[in-house]
Amino acid sequence: MRLSATTNIFFLQVIKILPSCFKPVVSTKRKTMTQTLPAKNNQKLQLSPLNIPNRLLLGPGPSNAHPDVLKAMNTAPVGHLDPAFLTLMDEIQSLLRYVWQTENPLTIAVSGTGSAAMEATIANSVEPGDVVLVGVVGYFGNRLVDMAQRYGADVRTITKPWGQVFSLDEIKTAIETHRPAIVALVHAETSTGARQPLEGVSELCRQYGSLLLVDSVTSMGGVPLYLDDWGVDLAYSCSQKGLGCPPGASPFTMSPNAMEKLQKRQTKVANWYLDMNLLSKYWGKERTYHHTAPINLYYALRESLRLLAEEGVENSWERHQKNAEYLWQGLEDLGMTLHVEKQYRLPTLTTVKIPEGIDGKTVAREMLLEDNLEVGGGLGELGGKVWRIGLMGYNSRKENVDRLLEVLKKKIKG
Ligand SMILES: Cc1ncc(COP(=O)(O)O)c(C=O)c1O
Repeated sequence: MRLSATTNIFFLQVIKILPSCFKPVVSTKRKTMTQTLPAKNNQKLQLSPLNIPNRLLLGPGPSNAHPDVLKAMNTAPVGHLDPAFLTLMDEIQSLLRYVWQTENPLTIAVSGTGSAAMEATIANSVEPGDVVLVGVVGYFGNRLVDMAQRYGADVRTITKPWGQVFSLDEIKTAIETHRPAIVALVHAETSTGARQPLEGVSELCRQYGSLLLVDSVTSMGGVPLYLDDWGVDLAYSCSQKGLGCPPGASPFTMSPNAMEKLQKRQTKVANWYLDMNLLSKYWGKERTYHHTAPINLYYALRESLRLLAEEGVENSWERHQKNAEYLWQGLEDLGMTLHVEKQYRLPTLTTVKIPEGIDGKTVAREMLLEDNLEVGGGLGELGGKVWRIGLMGYNSRKENVDRLLEVLKKKIKG
C-alpha cells in the first residue's frame, strides 16, 4: 500500500525520535503508523500538525460544511447544562420542527451520526416480537432490517430492484398481509438515488394501527418533507448532508402516537444511550444530565439550521431541485445515462451509469487525488455500475455542478 506524502513525513518524524531499541520493530511503514508509541525515556514526539486536503465533497455524504457553520463550531465550549447551551438546545428543537414541518414535542438531536438516530427510532419503538415491515430497495433498507432484528422484531420485507420505488398499492398489499406494528421506509435511498413517495402511506398505517417510520437522512433540507401532513410517526436524519454541517449530531423525532407506544412498553428500551425516556428528560423541562452533549457539534447544527431557516426551507428544496436538474442535463449532454426514472429522482443524490469501457473506481480515485473532487461509487447491487453524485446543502450550487462536469468530461472524453 502506498502512503501519501504527508503520511511519510509523519512516519519519518516519528522514526527520528524513537529510541534505537524500537527501530527494528518499525521495519514496515504500515506497522509504524499503528503501533503504540513509547512513553519511555522522557521522549517528546514531534509530529506534523493536522494537514487535510481541501476537497469538494460531491459524493453521498458528508458534504462540505458551510463556512459559517465551521466558524460556529470553533466557539469555545460551555457546559452541557449551561443556560446558554440549554437555550441553544431549545432553538435546535424548534428549528428541526420547522425543517421537518412537524409539531412533535419530542424532536431532538441525537449525539452520533445518522445511524445512531436510526437506531434510536428502532430501539424506542420496537418491542421483541413486534412485526416490522421494511421496504428494501437499497442498502439502507437492509440496515433497518438488521437493526430491527437485533431488537427482536419479527421483520418482514418487501423488495424491488434498486433504483425503483414502491407504489401505494404495493405498500397497501404488504400492510394487509403482514399487519405490522411498524412500517419502515427510506424516503431517500442514498444507495440508488430514488425518492420513495410517502403521501397516502400513513392513512394505510392508521387502518391497521401501524406506526410509520421514515429515514430522511438524504432528504432533510433538500427534498420536500412534511412529516405531520404525511403522518410520519418516527423519523431520523443526519447533519452532514442537506444541513451542510459536519457529521455527529443527528435529528430525531417521534409523534405522540409513537410516544404512546413507548410509554406502554412491557420491556425496557434495550439501549441506554438512545432511550428517549431518559433523553427526553435532558431535552425537556427537567434538564436532567444524561450524557455530555457534543457541545461544538450542537453549535454547528444550530448554525446550519439557522442558515436554512434564513434561506427558507421551501427555497432550499427549490434550489436543490434546480441544481439537480442542471446536473442531469449536463450529464446527459455528456452522453451519460441516469439510473433512476426522472419523477423518482432525488435532487440530493444522483446515480449515473458509468460509461462502458471506463473503470469507475479508478476514475473516482483520480478525481479525488488529482482534482480534489469526491464522488461516490455504487453500493451493493449497483457496485461498479454507477457513480453517486451528491448536491446537498451548501454544496448544491451551480458552480459545483460546472466544476464536476468539466472534470468528468476530461475523464470520459479525454
Ligand atoms: C439513507 C441513509 N440512512 C442512514 C445512513 C446512515 O447515516 P450515517 O452514515 O450518518 O450513520 C445513511 C448514510 O449515508 C443514509 O444515506
